[in-house]
Amino acid sequence: MNHLNAIFARGLNGEFSLSDGSLPWKNVPELSEDAKNDMTHFKNVTMGGIVIMGFNTYRTFKKPLPERINVVIDRNCGGEIAVDEKQFNFFKSLESALNYFADEKFSGQKMFLIGGAKLFEYSFSNNLVDGKIYGTVFNARFPDATAFMPGLPEGWKIIARQKNGEHSEIITYEK
Ligand SMILES: NC(=O)c1ccc[n+]([C@@H]2O[C@H](COP(=O)([O-])OP(=O)(O)OC[C@H]3O[C@@H](n4cnc5c(N)ncnc54)[C@H](OP(=O)(O)O)[C@@H]3O)[C@@H](O)[C@H]2O)c1
Repeated sequence: MNHLNAIFARGLNGEFSLSDGSLPWKNVPELSEDAKNDMTHFKNVTMGGIVIMGFNTYRTFKKPLPERINVVIDRNCGGEIAVDEKQFNFFKSLESALNYFADEKFSGQKMFLIGGAKLFEYSFSNNLVDGKIYGTVFNARFPDATAFMPGLPEGWKIIARQKNGEHSEIITYEK
Protein backbone atom coordinates (compact mmCIF):
# COMPACT_ATOMS: atom_id res chain seq x y z
CA MET A 1 0.00 0.00 0.00
CA ASN A 2 1.27 3.51 -0.81
CA HIS A 3 2.24 5.72 2.10
CA LEU A 4 0.18 8.83 2.73
CA ASN A 5 2.41 11.93 2.98
CA ALA A 6 1.31 15.42 3.97
CA ILE A 7 2.49 18.80 2.69
CA PHE A 8 1.57 22.22 4.04
CA ALA A 9 2.85 25.76 4.62
CA ARG A 10 2.23 27.94 7.65
CA GLY A 11 3.28 31.09 9.45
CA LEU A 12 5.11 31.24 12.80
CA ASN A 13 1.84 30.92 14.71
CA GLY A 14 0.43 28.20 12.48
CA GLU A 15 -1.34 30.71 10.22
CA PHE A 16 -2.74 28.74 7.30
CA SER A 17 -5.21 30.82 5.28
CA LEU A 18 -7.21 34.06 5.18
CA SER A 19 -10.98 34.42 5.21
CA ASP A 20 -11.13 34.67 1.40
CA GLY A 21 -9.35 31.30 1.13
CA SER A 22 -6.01 32.76 0.02
CA LEU A 23 -2.63 31.97 1.56
CA PRO A 24 -1.51 34.58 4.14
CA TRP A 25 1.90 35.27 2.49
CA LYS A 26 0.50 35.57 -1.03
CA ASN A 27 0.35 39.37 -1.23
CA VAL A 28 3.22 40.28 1.10
CA PRO A 29 5.88 41.83 -1.19
CA GLU A 30 8.89 40.90 0.98
CA LEU A 31 7.73 37.26 1.02
CA SER A 32 7.09 36.97 -2.71
CA GLU A 33 10.36 35.16 -3.45
CA ASP A 34 9.76 32.69 -0.60
CA ALA A 35 6.15 32.16 -1.74
CA LYS A 36 7.36 31.44 -5.27
CA ASN A 37 10.00 29.02 -3.97
CA ASP A 38 7.36 27.27 -1.90
CA MET A 39 5.16 26.77 -4.97
CA THR A 40 8.16 25.27 -6.79
CA HIS A 41 8.90 22.99 -3.84
CA PHE A 42 5.23 21.90 -3.70
CA LYS A 43 5.27 21.18 -7.43
CA ASN A 44 8.55 19.24 -7.31
CA VAL A 45 7.48 17.10 -4.36
CA THR A 46 3.96 16.28 -5.56
CA MET A 47 4.53 16.04 -9.35
CA GLY A 48 3.26 12.78 -10.83
CA GLY A 49 1.52 11.79 -7.62
CA ILE A 50 -1.97 11.66 -6.14
CA VAL A 51 -2.99 14.87 -4.35
CA ILE A 52 -5.85 14.63 -1.87
CA MET A 53 -7.71 17.70 -0.63
CA GLY A 54 -10.76 18.63 1.44
CA PHE A 55 -13.82 20.16 -0.16
CA ASN A 56 -13.00 23.72 1.00
CA THR A 57 -9.51 23.55 -0.49
CA TYR A 58 -10.98 22.26 -3.75
CA ARG A 59 -13.18 25.38 -3.85
CA THR A 60 -10.05 27.57 -3.95
CA PHE A 61 -8.78 25.79 -7.10
CA LYS A 62 -9.82 27.01 -10.55
CA LYS A 63 -8.49 23.85 -12.18
CA PRO A 64 -6.83 20.61 -11.13
CA LEU A 65 -3.10 20.55 -10.48
CA PRO A 66 -1.56 19.34 -13.76
CA GLU A 67 0.12 15.95 -14.10
CA ARG A 68 -1.26 14.76 -10.78
CA ILE A 69 -4.38 12.77 -9.89
CA ASN A 70 -6.58 15.32 -8.08
CA VAL A 71 -8.80 13.88 -5.34
CA VAL A 72 -11.48 15.74 -3.36
CA ILE A 73 -12.99 14.46 -0.12
CA ASP A 74 -16.63 15.52 0.05
CA ARG A 75 -19.11 13.70 2.25
CA ASN A 76 -21.95 14.97 0.04
CA CYS A 77 -20.61 13.65 -3.24
CA GLY A 78 -23.00 10.73 -3.09
CA GLY A 79 -21.27 7.77 -4.63
CA GLU A 80 -18.06 5.96 -3.84
CA ILE A 81 -16.26 7.89 -6.57
CA ALA A 82 -17.36 10.54 -9.05
CA VAL A 83 -15.34 12.58 -11.53
CA ASP A 84 -16.39 16.13 -12.46
CA GLU A 85 -15.91 17.81 -15.84
CA LYS A 86 -12.58 19.28 -14.73
CA GLN A 87 -11.20 15.84 -13.79
CA PHE A 88 -11.35 16.18 -10.02
CA ASN A 89 -12.05 12.75 -8.49
CA PHE A 90 -14.56 12.90 -5.63
CA PHE A 91 -14.70 10.42 -2.75
CA LYS A 92 -17.11 10.50 0.16
CA SER A 93 -14.40 9.77 2.74
CA LEU A 94 -10.64 9.81 3.04
CA GLU A 95 -10.74 6.12 3.89
CA SER A 96 -12.62 5.25 0.69
CA ALA A 97 -10.03 7.20 -1.34
CA LEU A 98 -7.14 5.42 0.41
CA ASN A 99 -8.82 2.08 -0.24
CA TYR A 100 -9.28 2.88 -3.91
CA PHE A 101 -5.64 3.93 -4.39
CA ALA A 102 -4.38 0.87 -2.50
CA ASP A 103 -5.07 -1.08 -5.71
CA GLU A 104 -2.01 -2.63 -7.33
CA LYS A 105 -2.37 -0.42 -10.40
CA PHE A 106 -1.40 2.62 -8.29
CA SER A 107 1.46 0.87 -6.54
CA GLY A 108 4.56 3.03 -6.19
CA GLN A 109 2.62 6.21 -6.89
CA LYS A 110 3.32 9.00 -4.39
CA MET A 111 0.29 10.13 -2.42
CA PHE A 112 -0.08 13.47 -0.63
CA LEU A 113 -2.62 15.07 1.61
CA ILE A 114 -2.45 18.75 0.64
CA GLY A 115 -5.04 20.30 3.03
CA GLY A 116 -6.93 22.00 4.32
CA ALA A 117 -6.77 22.33 8.06
CA LYS A 118 -9.90 20.22 8.67
CA LEU A 119 -8.65 17.29 6.62
CA PHE A 120 -5.19 17.48 8.24
CA GLU A 121 -6.82 17.51 11.67
CA TYR A 122 -8.92 14.47 10.82
CA SER A 123 -6.07 12.48 9.28
CA PHE A 124 -3.62 13.29 12.09
CA SER A 125 -6.07 12.34 14.82
CA ASN A 126 -6.84 9.08 13.02
CA ASN A 127 -3.18 8.27 12.29
CA LEU A 128 -3.78 8.09 8.55
CA VAL A 129 -0.57 9.90 7.55
CA ASP A 130 2.20 7.30 7.57
CA GLY A 131 4.83 8.63 5.15
CA LYS A 132 6.59 11.97 5.42
CA ILE A 133 5.30 15.39 6.40
CA TYR A 134 6.71 18.38 4.53
CA GLY A 135 6.11 21.71 6.28
CA THR A 136 7.17 25.10 4.97
CA VAL A 137 7.38 27.59 7.83
CA PHE A 138 7.33 31.30 7.02
CA ASN A 139 9.25 33.27 9.61
CA ALA A 140 6.49 35.87 9.93
CA ARG A 141 3.20 36.44 11.72
CA PHE A 142 -0.08 37.01 9.86
CA PRO A 143 -2.66 38.69 12.12
CA ASP A 144 -5.40 38.44 9.45
CA ALA A 145 -5.26 34.64 9.29
CA THR A 146 -8.55 32.89 10.04
CA ALA A 147 -7.44 29.24 9.75
CA PHE A 148 -4.53 27.57 11.51
CA MET A 149 -2.53 24.42 10.86
CA PRO A 150 -3.23 21.76 13.52
CA GLY A 151 -0.21 20.59 15.54
CA LEU A 152 1.54 17.45 14.32
CA PRO A 153 0.73 14.29 16.26
CA GLU A 154 3.26 12.94 18.75
CA GLY A 155 6.12 10.80 17.51
CA TRP A 156 7.07 12.75 14.38
CA LYS A 157 10.75 13.70 14.20
CA ILE A 158 12.55 16.24 12.04
CA ILE A 159 14.72 14.45 9.47
CA ALA A 160 15.69 17.43 7.30
CA ARG A 161 15.65 21.24 7.34
CA GLN A 162 16.41 23.34 4.30
CA LYS A 163 16.25 27.02 3.50
CA ASN A 164 13.33 27.97 1.27
CA GLY A 165 14.40 31.61 0.99
CA GLU A 166 15.34 34.56 3.22
CA HIS A 167 12.18 34.23 5.31
CA SER A 168 11.20 30.57 5.34
CA GLU A 169 12.45 27.02 5.70
CA ILE A 170 11.21 23.58 4.72
CA ILE A 171 11.09 21.02 7.51
CA THR A 172 10.65 17.33 6.74
CA TYR A 173 9.30 14.96 9.38
CA GLU A 174 9.12 11.19 9.62
CA LYS A 175 7.83 8.84 12.29
N1 LIG B 1 -1.33 26.74 3.99
C1 LIG B 1 -1.52 25.60 3.37
O1 LIG B 1 -0.60 24.78 3.25
C2 LIG B 1 -2.87 25.26 2.81
C3 LIG B 1 -3.04 24.04 2.14
C4 LIG B 1 -4.30 23.72 1.65
C5 LIG B 1 -5.35 24.57 1.87
N2 LIG B 1 -5.16 25.73 2.54
C6 LIG B 1 -6.30 26.62 2.81
O2 LIG B 1 -7.17 25.93 3.68
C7 LIG B 1 -8.50 26.41 3.48
C8 LIG B 1 -9.47 25.25 3.49
O3 LIG B 1 -9.28 24.47 4.66
P1 LIG B 1 -10.48 23.98 5.57
O4 LIG B 1 -9.90 23.45 6.81
O5 LIG B 1 -11.49 25.07 5.65
O6 LIG B 1 -11.16 22.86 4.70
P2 LIG B 1 -10.68 21.49 4.00
O7 LIG B 1 -9.96 20.63 4.97
O8 LIG B 1 -10.04 21.80 2.70
O9 LIG B 1 -12.09 20.85 3.64
C9 LIG B 1 -12.98 20.51 4.68
C10 LIG B 1 -14.21 19.89 4.08
O10 LIG B 1 -13.88 18.64 3.51
C11 LIG B 1 -14.96 17.74 3.67
N3 LIG B 1 -14.60 16.53 4.41
C12 LIG B 1 -14.95 15.27 4.04
N4 LIG B 1 -14.49 14.36 4.88
C13 LIG B 1 -13.82 15.04 5.83
C14 LIG B 1 -13.12 14.63 6.98
N5 LIG B 1 -13.00 13.36 7.33
N6 LIG B 1 -12.55 15.57 7.74
C15 LIG B 1 -12.64 16.87 7.39
N7 LIG B 1 -13.29 17.32 6.29
C16 LIG B 1 -13.88 16.40 5.52
C17 LIG B 1 -16.01 18.50 4.42
O11 LIG B 1 -16.87 19.00 3.43
P3 LIG B 1 -18.23 18.20 3.07
O12 LIG B 1 -19.16 18.57 4.16
O13 LIG B 1 -18.57 18.67 1.73
O14 LIG B 1 -17.88 16.76 3.12
C18 LIG B 1 -15.28 19.61 5.10
O15 LIG B 1 -16.08 20.75 5.33
C19 LIG B 1 -8.48 27.17 2.17
O16 LIG B 1 -8.62 28.53 2.47
C20 LIG B 1 -7.11 26.91 1.59
O17 LIG B 1 -6.57 28.04 0.94
C21 LIG B 1 -3.94 26.10 3.01
